Amino acid sequence: MNTNLTGKTGILGIIGWPVAHSLSPLMQNAACVALGLDYVYVPFPVAPENLRKAVDGLRALGVTGFNVTIPHKEAIVGLLDILSDEARLIGAVNTVKREGDRLTGHNTDAAGLITSLQDDLEFDIKGSRVLLLGAGGAARAAIVGLCRAGAASVIVANRTPDKAERLVADFRSAFSGANLAVSPLDILKGDQRLKDVDLLINTTAVGLGGTTFDGVDLAPMAPCACVYDMVYSPALTPLLAEARRNSLRSANGVGMLAAQGEAAFSFWTGCEPPNGLMKSRLMAALGGQDMLDNEVYSK
Ligand code: ATR
Repeated sequence: MNTNLTGKTGILGIIGWPVAHSLSPLMQNAACVALGLDYVYVPFPVAPENLRKAVDGLRALGVTGFNVTIPHKEAIVGLLDILSDEARLIGAVNTVKREGDRLTGHNTDAAGLITSLQDDLEFDIKGSRVLLLGAGGAARAAIVGLCRAGAASVIVANRTPDKAERLVADFRSAFSGANLAVSPLDILKGDQRLKDVDLLINTTAVGLGGTTFDGVDLAPMAPCACVYDMVYSPALTPLLAEARRNSLRSANGVGMLAAQGEAAFSFWTGCEPPNGLMKSRLMAALGGQDMLDNEVYSK
């Protein structure tokens, strides 16, 4: 971390509640040091009721920029001056940059997912058929990234069906070229429709700490299909273990976490972080998980 702080040091940070678990300070500070940039990245715990005051405070303090994490990604939208097209479409912000008195909200989650799918799975999104688990903010970012990258169809499967319907309805006009549909979560239980899925993505927190969806059976999926889990702790989630049992290419969300961080870093500093640095720092911090557990399983 940059310990040579002066009056000129640029302040970056992350707001969330809680935020103590965040690995962003680690990877962002590593990139600042590696490039010799005079910035420091600080975690700021901000309770939901203090969000407005915190944003005003960060504005008044003249910070260069900050990340936004759970539970503020959607609530912060109305507190900013400018939104990027991506953030407006997704309806959530994970990166804010100050330019003069104005705060611009951006979303690097969609780009982070697409980068990770390409780098970690070598997945060709154009024309693909995707099954998305979940209908929250992470699913919104995923659908925007996937449709912009040319996915042919996206089926949204969610525990609460109404929420999946609403999500699909929100994006039908923006992405009229893609076939958007909904399904019950039961599709995971060996449904024959899995045969026509090229990519299964979990955007929910199910998998965290080893939690699992009921009765998952991915046996019908085609041998060339891929599985991506945004969860990365444990590295081998139950969903990824099922993918591995079926010899499907799969990856966890470490690559997305790193890639959204790389995009945020470039947005703030105008510099590209060293290739692979953020991801390697994350993997080291996640407890010496071996490459097998973080990279494509069946390659
Ligand atoms: P995020 O911004 O990370 O997407 P979110 O907006 O709170 O978080 O959305 C969480 C998603 O995970 C939702 O789709 C939620 O399903 P519901 O709409 O039914 O609440 C899904 N989710 C959370 N816990 C789940 C569980 N135990 N089983 C299935 N889905 C779950």
